[in-house]
Amino acid sequence: MTTSPPVPDLTPEHWRSRVAEVLTRARDRSGLLTDAVDDDDLVRQHSPLMSPLVWDLAHVGNQEELWLVRDVGGLAPVRQDIDELYDAFRHARADRPSLPLLGPPEARSYVREVRDKVLDVLAHSPLEGRPLLENAFAFGMVAQHEQQHDETMLATHQLRASAAVLAAPPPPPGMSLPAAEVLVPGGPFTMGTSTEPWALDNERPAHVVDVAPFFIDAAAVTNGAYLAFIDGGGYDEPRWWSAQGWAHRHRVAGLTAPQFWERVGDTWWRRRFGIREQVPPQEPVMHVSFHEAQAYAAWAGRRLPTEAEWEKAARWDPATGRSRRYPWGDEDPGPEHANLGQRHLRPAEAGAYPRGASPLGVHQLIGDVWEWTSSDFHGYPGFSAFPYPEYSLVFFGSDYKVLRGGSFGSDAVAVRGTFRNWDYPIRRQIFAGFRCARDPAPGEAG
Ligand code: AVJ
Ligand code: FE
Repeated sequence: MTTSPPVPDLTPEHWRSRVAEVLTRARDRSGLLTDAVDDDDLVRQHSPLMSPLVWDLAHVGNQEELWLVRDVGGLAPVRQDIDELYDAFRHARADRPSLPLLGPPEARSYVREVRDKVLDVLAHSPLEGRPLLENAFAFGMVAQHEQQHDETMLATHQLRASAAVLAAPPPPPGMSLPAAEVLVPGGPFTMGTSTEPWALDNERPAHVVDVAPFFIDAAAVTNGAYLAFIDGGGYDEPRWWSAQGWAHRHRVAGLTAPQFWERVGDTWWRRRFGIREQVPPQEPVMHVSFHEAQAYAAWAGRRLPTEAEWEKAARWDPATGRSRRYPWGDEDPGPEHANLGQRHLRPAEAGAYPRGASPLGVHQLIGDVWEWTSSDFHGYPGFSAFPYPEYSLVFFGSDYKVLRGGSFGSDAVAVRGTFRNWDYPIRRQIFAGFRCARDPAPGEAG
């Protein structure tokens, strides 16, 4: 059984141009997200869960300075005095507005100065001889870091109370799918990767996992389906909730619908990037916590998929037994495959990306909405922290649940069939929804 997909094997010159492309794309997006609002808005805290946008911007520059200017480049610090301010472990998000942060003009010139040096380092770095340099890993890691913060900044935009400042065309329309759910046969598959050049430490190493047969939804749960749960009294019935979820449901006043929803008379409205609109019934539900996703699934007589089930549905090719890089194959994501990269400001309806479907017919696993799984965030067997334990290792344990697949706000460089995200099970500000799974009934698994 061939288990490893072919992965990019580029010459140093190709790596350099690929790095320049992803770094530029990330910086263009950071610029768009921070130039869209005035200075007052940039330094304000829109939610205690989020940093001021100006903190994210300078933090992105500071990480780039630490890894690429100082470590890879071996150059003198640009601004060593600010390392402490932008160390995410030193100051909780809620405390960041009261720090003596760089102001908007200083932050902009800081990230520009760092980037200029980095482009110089890129041109002269050997791209070999150290694990950090192989396949330009450190550069890919830094581009992914900036894009992850760009998605966080986009979530901060969603939390802004003020008028809309972002615009984008709607995603392609949905199409009806041949089946609501798909049977994934039981058996071993290769989870994680040891060969994907820019996979982060928590995606490694590749290892075989035996997965029992299961059914998984062909598409994410929609607002319309979720409304049936609300209308059916799902938020008032402890039997659908875990003990932890039910306790949380009661601790938080008004936890009776997804975040940003409001009922007026018989109509549900939502606020999306400063625009008030009726809740579109066919769109995937988002801004629900893990607890809400889990309660919905129980109400529907189903359950959330485990992380291994999700990845098998996304990567396992029944024809070859091999795990692919993406549901559609090994090619990098294009606009025809998935709703990624903030090209649209909402998830697409089911069936909008037929070319992105898996061989078994599971749609939109990549893009649209992050998908809650039932799994806690742990290291894979043989995990080794690289290059720093604060990326993943310090978060391993049962406090966090894994999310998979990326959202409309995730960039292609920071999403893969193996990519793992995680958050507290109570969080709702991320662009997260879910799909359901179930065990086959006796005799149903073929
Ligand atoms: C992987 C999205 C959970 O935002 O906390 C950014 C990514 N790590 N800077 C986060 C991250 C360090 C991380 N998540
Ligand atoms: Fe960070």
